[in-house]
Amino acid sequence: MIYHELVIVGGGLAGLRAAIEAKKQGIDVAIVSQVWPGRSHSGAAQGGVNAALANHPESADDTWEKHAFDTVKGSDYLADQDAVVQMTKDAIPVIYELDHAGCPFSRFDDGRIAQRPFGGAGYPRTCYGADKTGHYMLHTMVEQAIEARVPMYVEWFVARLVVDDGVCRGVVAYDMVRGGFELFQAEAVVIATGGAGRVYSNSTNAIISTGYGMAMAYHAGVALKDLEFVQFHPTGLLTTNILMTEGARGEGGYLVNDLGERFMEKYAPTAMELAPRDITSRSIQTEINEGRGIGGKGYVHLDLRHLGAQKILEKLPGIRDLAIHFEGVDPIEEPIPIVPSQHYSMGGIDTDMDGRTTMPGLYAAGECACVSVHGANRLGGNSLLETVVFGRRAGAAAAQYIDGLDEFGRSAAVGEEALADVRDRVRSLANREGGEDPYAIRAAMASTMKEHFGVFREASVMQAGLETMMDLKARVTNVELRHAGGVFNLDMIRTFELEGMVDVALGIAAGALARTESRGSHARTDFPERDDANWLEHTLALYEPDGGPRLEAKAVGLGMFEPQERKY
Ligand code: FUM
Repeated sequence: MIYHELVIVGGGLAGLRAAIEAKKQGIDVAIVSQVWPGRSHSGAAQGGVNAALANHPESADDTWEKHAFDTVKGSDYLADQDAVVQMTKDAIPVIYELDHAGCPFSRFDDGRIAQRPFGGAGYPRTCYGADKTGHYMLHTMVEQAIEARVPMYVEWFVARLVVDDGVCRGVVAYDMVRGGFELFQAEAVVIATGGAGRVYSNSTNAIISTGYGMAMAYHAGVALKDLEFVQFHPTGLLTTNILMTEGARGEGGYLVNDLGERFMEKYAPTAMELAPRDITSRSIQTEINEGRGIGGKGYVHLDLRHLGAQKILEKLPGIRDLAIHFEGVDPIEEPIPIVPSQHYSMGGIDTDMDGRTTMPGLYAAGECACVSVHGANRLGGNSLLETVVFGRRAGAAAAQYIDGLDEFGRSAAVGEEALADVRDRVRSLANREGGEDPYAIRAAMASTMKEHFGVFREASVMQAGLETMMDLKARVTNVELRHAGGVFNLDMIRTFELEGMVDVALGIAAGALARTESRGSHARTDFPERDDANWLEHTLALYEPDGGPRLEAKAVGLGMFEPQERKY
């Protein structure tokens, strides 16, 4: 058994920031992560992080209030406005904190942090480090955590939470390097495991973005919120869905169809290529569906050639490399073939602004959580921001909770049953003969989600998808593991993940079918209008072991901004 007062599951930006904050407050905190924190998916974020610094010549009168307005409008009014206000106010000191910690942001000639335009933003307010902003922020934060001497259990897969009498008291984790399961007892746990992109087959996300952290909370009785809101990034590489940053359009890139038209003129005449992602992805998909994809095929072009080699090499070197290596296209010479690709989970573990869930001792932050600051559609550049703002707040809140526990509230020796339960589960999976292949189920799930719950949605297509998902859920109960335990048993990890992924995918499916309106990323061809009278509310999904989720409604936190029609 291993003991820490606070265990953080996940070593990306949100987890690292939570750990650093708790450590500052004198808490014995440790990070448990499936990968070395510097390889977390936060590092794949490219284009930037939003804060109303007003450094850009065209953003002299930018303010946090304008950032808040753009965020709420971008969310199609589903974001909780108190949380948005908190995030946009905190954005400014958070960027300076990162800068002072050594994060190598790009600079204007006068030495101030550079900012570029991004989708759905009234001003150029996205701070960036070329097109590797997440990588730079992540490594800055890893250094800070090392300096603060936060212990890191690296290449440990957390399999389940330990819950005792309704209170979260730790986790059970698989030590991938040495083999075997171990019990981590703790006073509190922060889940910071990122999004659920890999439930789709066409995702920009890393292989570790499975949604399993969400599923652990869900299986333990905590609601998942707004799962149906899935972001499709307009520009994923055609053959791999690798992200081609929005920063490419922020720097002036064009979207072009087979007729050579900058088609965004029809859909967002003012914002053009810098409309929010939901609108831009729908526009691209419409061009494709109506036969104006390149050569009549299923993609359009992101054209950067007019930017010139110098600008591309200076501002967008990372995506140039990716386009060359993964698509065989040099953006200096040729347009890049792109398709809308699953990119972000707006939904996640239902939390308050301090990462608290409804379960005492359990917190969540980052993409796995739903605070909610993104509502029905996230603005580019707000996810890196969310990780550091709400990671810090979750770490502080968990520290305060632990400080407030008296000696009787502190952990007794609990969790042995959970540990035995996980070991039994692995044994029974391995002893099963003639069971299902988990990889086949996973592939079927991911293609079902792509085909049935994509950019455009319609009842009969979703109903068929939901039925397939229910069938896959039944098949998951009969999977077979080729071997149990041992070191680096990725089959075992993938099988655990699959159980969670199927439930999260079912939550997306059930929420999408139930929501009979179009809002943000949830675009229904059979209900094309937003319906504030009936649907200005969050969806809560509650886990039911034998079927799809039970859905409930939760009020949206309104405030400074009255819902209006979105025009760009
Ligand atoms: O396009 C991008 O660089 C992605 C940014 C984001 O998701 O915030």
